[in-house]
Amino acid sequence: MTEPDVHLDDQAAALRADVRYGFSAAQKWLPAKWFYDARGSELFEEITRLPEYYPTRAEREILTREAGEIARVTGAHTLVELGSGSSEKTRLLLDGLREHGTLKTFVPLDVSASALEEAVAAIRADYPGLSVRGVVGDFTEHLGLLPGEPPRLVAFLGGTIGNFLPADRVKFLRSVRDVLTPGEWLLLGTDLVKDPDTLVRAYDDAAGVTAQFDLNMLSVVNELLGADFDLGGFGHESYWDAENEWIEMRLRARRDMVVRIPGAGMDVRFEEGEYIRTEISAKFRAAGVAAELTESGFALERWWTDGQQRFGVSLAKAVQEE
Ligand code: AVJ
Repeated sequence: MTEPDVHLDDQAAALRADVRYGFSAAQKWLPAKWFYDARGSELFEEITRLPEYYPTRAEREILTREAGEIARVTGAHTLVELGSGSSEKTRLLLDGLREHGTLKTFVPLDVSASALEEAVAAIRADYPGLSVRGVVGDFTEHLGLLPGEPPRLVAFLGGTIGNFLPADRVKFLRSVRDVLTPGEWLLLGTDLVKDPDTLVRAYDDAAGVTAQFDLNMLSVVNELLGADFDLGGFGHESYWDAENEWIEMRLRARRDMVVRIPGAGMDVRFEEGEYIRTEISAKFRAAGVAAELTESGFALERWWTDGQQRFGVSLAKAVQEE
């Protein structure tokens, strides 16, 4: 197999910068991408099968129903998937595009090399004749390097756009728009605002898988930066911020602690009750998604939801701009 392009030469250096920045803030935080080492990616796959975690099933319902329509409308020659993970839902798109007869290349991009390698091998085995060009990288940084013949369809599924702060969201969508030629496509998955109970439970399941996933970020810091986080010293929480309309994942310190982080050259003090924000997962309304796409240089061509209106998928076209 050809090796995937690797753009994460210095993961530890990137984490060091994020740890220094995030742990110096009044409200400590770390970027959500640090969940996804091999174990974190496995735990996320487990989350997608939990009874409380509806987004994966809701999005799959939409893609199952609309894959043919997506292929017909876009006529894509290349499917690029950002944050592809296991690429499981992608198969629905690949099947739709292959039946339509236009697809030549699939470009999955993910921060997790292990998850990507598995996905690339599995897709190659099941789609002979398809050119699969895996890219290991961070979709906020490595968009300009995407291969594939136009027209391309960039899929950003699962609601991962919700991990950005609102201002960064539009910057990100704009950066996708800027690597596309007018007439190329974006397929965007967005989890929708709904009753807080359903949302909070989706991020704090009864079996405790999401708690393990959240705590895994501390293992990643221990592993990459030689830190001595005691995972037992922190408890996982899911919090609905009604004003911002996002879920926060938090790791709350159970006691006063000092954590040594040699790879970041710092000792970090935690007070009992203080928390680290490890993720925001914004929830959307149809009008807001449409407005942000327009603001980013896309024309919204299709909007679909699942039968229970839990999740939305947008198909948008890069527009010609002055
Ligand atoms: C992969 C970012 C879409 O925000 O729902 C799942 C990650 N975090 N459970 C999400 C996640 C906790 C997930 N995304």
